[in-house]
Amino acid sequence: MKDIKTFIIPILMIFMLTSCDSEFDHEVTQEGPGSGAQSKSNIQSKAGVPFIRLNNGVNMPQFGFGTQILSMESDPDRQALNAKVDETVTAALTSDYIHLDTAHAYFNEKGVGYGILRSKVDRNSIWITSKLDPHEFDDASNGIDGILERLQTDYLDLLFLHHPVGNINTIVSAYRAMVEAYKAGKVRAIGISNFDNRMEAYNAIMEEEFKPQVMQIECHPYAQRNETRELAKTYDIQVECWFPLKHNQDGILSDETLTSIANAHNKSVAQVILRWHIQEGLIAIPGSTNATHIKENIDIFDFELTDSEMNTIRGLDQGEAGRAYNIPYGNDWFTNLVDYSYIPEGFNSSSESSSDSSSDSSSESSSDSSSKGINFTLGKLFIILFFVFFA
Ligand SMILES: NC(=O)c1ccc[n+]([C@@H]2O[C@H](COP(=O)([O-])OP(=O)(O)OC[C@H]3O[C@@H](n4cnc5c(N)ncnc54)[C@H](OP(=O)(O)O)[C@@H]3O)[C@@H](O)[C@H]2O)c1
Repeated sequence: MKDIKTFIIPILMIFMLTSCDSEFDHEVTQEGPGSGAQSKSNIQSKAGVPFIRLNNGVNMPQFGFGTQILSMESDPDRQALNAKVDETVTAALTSDYIHLDTAHAYFNEKGVGYGILRSKVDRNSIWITSKLDPHEFDDASNGIDGILERLQTDYLDLLFLHHPVGNINTIVSAYRAMVEAYKAGKVRAIGISNFDNRMEAYNAIMEEEFKPQVMQIECHPYAQRNETRELAKTYDIQVECWFPLKHNQDGILSDETLTSIANAHNKSVAQVILRWHIQEGLIAIPGSTNATHIKENIDIFDFELTDSEMNTIRGLDQGEAGRAYNIPYGNDWFTNLVDYSYIPEGFNSSSESSSDSSSDSSSESSSDSSSKGINFTLGKLFIILFFVFFA
């Protein structure tokens, strides 16, 4: 009897712990994604990154890597930008990040795709987010296929409408194309990005039967976006924060209050800010081109801010004045989505679609040599027959 107890009690405890909802999980109110992408995904936590259950039952890593390199986007030659992104994505994945955020308009999806191949991390073990640009809203289905092709994947974990730009009917039609892709198993969750800046578009989407899972907005200690966060709760939509470090503007990384909290934990200000996001139940996707910062930013799951520290940071909110961007969206937009090429170092064209290029090429060469072997045997047979019949 004692033996049974020692066996069953730990199993029950593990079951109870693993079946507990996390503090920030959402009610499942939306139909789950089509089986294609959903059945392939197998994302496990690394470095202590927690998951949040979205309103469609999908678990999303609460922390990720932002891949946009704003400072390099003005150069129309995309080679250097993609090479840098390829390098930073490799650094992030080898530093145990399990979640990447990109967009068509960052002109870097090709670099992200190669970074994933280069890292040798299984695609199904990471979360990939991308975004449709307003220029492709009127042909969104092809736009989605283009994203998949540039990233060298057959599904996305999350797809956003990047900006609420253009005619409202066109925005809604693009949203419906995303829902079709979701039902077809090409996408595991869908979202709206920056729709807090055009409520007309937000309201139109909320009239659709299928509601989004995630809203991406600017959010950091200087602009905590409490109103928008309340709004998102209406439909159990998860808030994800871009510019979680306010893009290192306005002295946020040397803020005195944040510095004293950081010193108390022997952490950096960036780590304290990112930890604040996690304890607020927000998803954060900090970006960096520096391998040391990339490692530092994910090293936030071994300490906890006290309630009083959380409240102090809440007190730093400057409301709308604290935002880096506040774009009044309408019908016009400025991105020029010219196609680009990226020739990665260390890959050749035959290895483009596979991370396992070495095994591919070896199987290719073995089938090659076996066909050569058949030709050689036929040749010998022909010579023997020649001598038998004509010698
Ligand atoms: N949906 C949208 O419209 C939208 C808009 C903007 C951004 N985004 C997404 O949000 C992501 C994050 O935004 P972001 O990368 O521009 O801004 P961010 O994460 O707020 O800050 C990045 C800046 O902080 C610096 N930094 C990062 N970690 C640091 C550290 N530990 N110590 C000191 N400095 C550090 C980086 O410089 P170093 O390179 O030197 O580390 C970089 O200058 C983007 O990559 C993108 O994926 C989405």
